[in-house]
Amino acid sequence: MPVTLVVGAQWGDEGKGRIVDYLAAGADGVARFGGGANAGHTVRVGDKTYKLRIVPSGVIAGVTCIIGPGTVVSPAALVKELSDLEGAGVDTSRVWLSDLAHLILPYHIELDRASERARGDVKIGTTGNGIGPAYGDRVARVGVRAGDLRDERAWRAALAARCAALAGSGVSVDDGAIASELASQAKLLLPHIRDTVELINDLLRSGKRIIAEGAQGSMLDVGLGTYPFVTSSVTVAGGAGAGLGIGPTRIDSVVGVVKAYATRVGGGPFPSELDDSTGQRLREIGGEVGTVTGRPRRCGWLDLAALRYAVDINGMTHLAMTKLDVLDSFDRIGVCTSYKSPPEISVPFAIAQGAACETTFLTGWKASIGGARSWEDLPAAARDYVAFVERHLSIPISYVSVGPERSQIIVRANAPLRIPASVR
Ligand code: GDP
Ligand code: IMO
Ligand code: MG
Repeated sequence: MPVTLVVGAQWGDEGKGRIVDYLAAGADGVARFGGGANAGHTVRVGDKTYKLRIVPSGVIAGVTCIIGPGTVVSPAALVKELSDLEGAGVDTSRVWLSDLAHLILPYHIELDRASERARGDVKIGTTGNGIGPAYGDRVARVGVRAGDLRDERAWRAALAARCAALAGSGVSVDDGAIASELASQAKLLLPHIRDTVELINDLLRSGKRIIAEGAQGSMLDVGLGTYPFVTSSVTVAGGAGAGLGIGPTRIDSVVGVVKAYATRVGGGPFPSELDDSTGQRLREIGGEVGTVTGRPRRCGWLDLAALRYAVDINGMTHLAMTKLDVLDSFDRIGVCTSYKSPPEISVPFAIAQGAACETTFLTGWKASIGGARSWEDLPAAARDYVAFVERHLSIPISYVSVGPERSQIIVRANAPLRIPASVR
């Protein structure tokens, strides 16, 4: 069972990209199963920083990369990302886009903006990448897929029909301009478009290890998250099978990536939010600014009530905790251990109804941990913090990241995948 699945355990930006980059060195492929260029996954190797949007983070390690059938892909954004990566010296010849993935076209972006405007004061705060409207078209069976680009006459006809329908409902679109841009993007993308379902299943049959890379976070899942302040895809582990065209029996471990504190970008309730100087300090030390939109991220203490829910809905087997070093200078560190809300209410409803946190404080370690490479290198108070979370969730924290650079990671004995230093 050779798939290691990596998912965000909170509201996104947990550091999935840096964990996937680490694991990719011991794998044969990395596959994205959902979302689009709303994601921003940062990978730092030495003094180079790479920002991935839709291309899987495994591209830096140089393994086969699959953008799966469950994703929504803007041809313009993908063309730019591939060219930026090539410009930075990264080989993109093994990046494959599923012919079943749906395309995000300029009218999806217009519709995304219009729907945000129409929401008035209760905006979702989307990334403005057309994600919701593109998934909407997929479900409404009026979408255009990457594989459609193989037949220019057919996609032109489908596009014209969709634009006419939009015009009929009052959305003005310049279908001529969209078609001519798409024709030139198609030329660049067609060499990357293929059947990725057979590709991934062949790799799995021959015993290769694949990392399935999640995007966004569990609390942003369209069904199980803090609806309607969510994205439009299935972000939890259950989305990986349908999003890649593999069966659930292929997955042997589910690694949830969790920041040592909590952040959220965009609108919506956030129980452990610190709308004060402590939140501001977390934002400054953690560099909490959105990769995609440049918006400041809202910050708060780690929320174990939401995290316990995330462990359940993903069937997480292990956790990877990132950004522990951001807490280095705090005298005491808060942890939301539960909500004051009646038990019959689901977690998303409890959060929507303004769940208040029961917060416990742990003693800070007041030391710089960026150079720690083993569990024993960590100060006792930092180990206590990690152990406290493990105890509350009954799940091992197998990776602890203490800085953004590839080597700044502690891999514990119970880790599902351990990458020998020689291949990193
Ligand atoms: P993703 O979307 O889940 O991949 O996360 P992002 O890349 O959007 O945000 C995570 C940010 O934290 C990036 O800027 C990373 O370089 C940075 N980062 C990741 N791990 C660590 C860590 O352990 N310590 C610090 N200080 N920064 C980290
Ligand atoms: P990564 O993969 C953080 C949030 C947006 C908004 C909501 C809906 O980098 O962790 P959308 O554009 O998807 O319709 O926006 O979801 N959001 C993210 N927040 N990290 C992400 O991705 C996100 N992708 C979407 O801010 O609140
Ligand atoms: Mg991100």
